[in-house]
Amino acid sequence: MKAVVHKKYGPPNTLQIEEVEKPIPSDNEVLVKIYATSVNRTDCATVRGIPFLTRVGTGIFRPKIQISGSEFAGVVEETGENVTFLKKGDKVFGFDDQGLKSHAEYMKISEEKAFSIPQNISFEQAAVSIEGAHYAYNFINKVDLKTGQRVLVNGATGAIGSSAVQLLKYYEAHVTAVCSGEHMDLVKSLGADEVIDYTREDFTKIDQKFQFVFDTVGKSSFFKCRPILENGGVYISSDLGYRAQNLFLPFITPFIKSLFENKKTVFPFPSNIKRSILLIRKLIEEEKFQAVVDRKYALKDILEAYRYVEEGQKLGNVVVKVLEKNE
Ligand SMILES: NC(=O)c1ccc[n+]([C@@H]2O[C@H](COP(=O)([O-])OP(=O)(O)OC[C@H]3O[C@@H](n4cnc5c(N)ncnc54)[C@H](OP(=O)(O)O)[C@@H]3O)[C@@H](O)[C@H]2O)c1
Repeated sequence: MKAVVHKKYGPPNTLQIEEVEKPIPSDNEVLVKIYATSVNRTDCATVRGIPFLTRVGTGIFRPKIQISGSEFAGVVEETGENVTFLKKGDKVFGFDDQGLKSHAEYMKISEEKAFSIPQNISFEQAAVSIEGAHYAYNFINKVDLKTGQRVLVNGATGAIGSSAVQLLKYYEAHVTAVCSGEHMDLVKSLGADEVIDYTREDFTKIDQKFQFVFDTVGKSSFFKCRPILENGGVYISSDLGYRAQNLFLPFITPFIKSLFENKKTVFPFPSNIKRSILLIRKLIEEEKFQAVVDRKYALKDILEAYRYVEEGQKLGNVVVKVLEKNE
């Protein structure tokens, strides 16, 4: 089968499409014929081996998992002996930030990590529904969000941001979204109550206060956002920030309450992917969540997809079609 192989860390041109052995599922695994996958920021970071600390899990000098890909949608083709609830022909999707080797024609996966695809979406849509939404849900989970609270989402057009806007509206928050002018209509269609064009206005200087600021693209800082946080407000970023400050501030800000007017930083280490997938699947079925899809690439052009995603300007998510004829 064809697979996208990375034998060393580096930029997208270190990836190669190669013929490799088709995986054989163990007793608790299923073999999935992949119809569609995504290239997301998790894949880009894994292929480059950054931040360096993540190599403790992925391999210090070279990647332990040498086929890229973390998200997939496809059909179960074979089941291991102890597989109980999935069967041949089932349509499944999934995500794992530790890597699934899903940039390939086939992959094997434990049946616990493969979830049935909602009937109302295509393989392509399913393949990009989880990564951004999982991180967005983890942002929301880390705080005690109440109905009607005011939340600002910076980067509302990205994979995480476009998911965050939809999830926050599901939890009935009041959402102010920040994006460039050309994407304001899209962000309004996702449910944002107010939209700020960052090319015209610096959102950190507006005369409004928010209970939460979610910077989903890591372009601001706690210190810049302090003036727009209410007393007791919380700043969360998807990025480590200058000198990894977002890792340290959560320990410092709660102890110097008077200096920071009770405002604090929270850094979400994403966890519990299954919980995220079950919520996302339910919301897709209820038509309350839809992943934003940008460009689509064929598997043979996946390096182009990586280069595009690394530019940091994608609109939502990028699909890789593994099967050309795909629902
Ligand atoms: N290390 C990891 O494993 C990992 C995994 C996932 C995500 N992340 C981090 O999380 C962040 C978000 O990921 P993502 O996939 O959601 O991002 P993304 O989809 O790549 O974000 C792209 C969007 O960012 C917006 N943007 C660019 N510059 C902006 C600015 N100055 N202000 C506001 N918006 C701006 C663009 O919107 P406009 O067209 O409107 O400008 C574009 O639509 C990234 O920083 C990424 O590194 C890290």
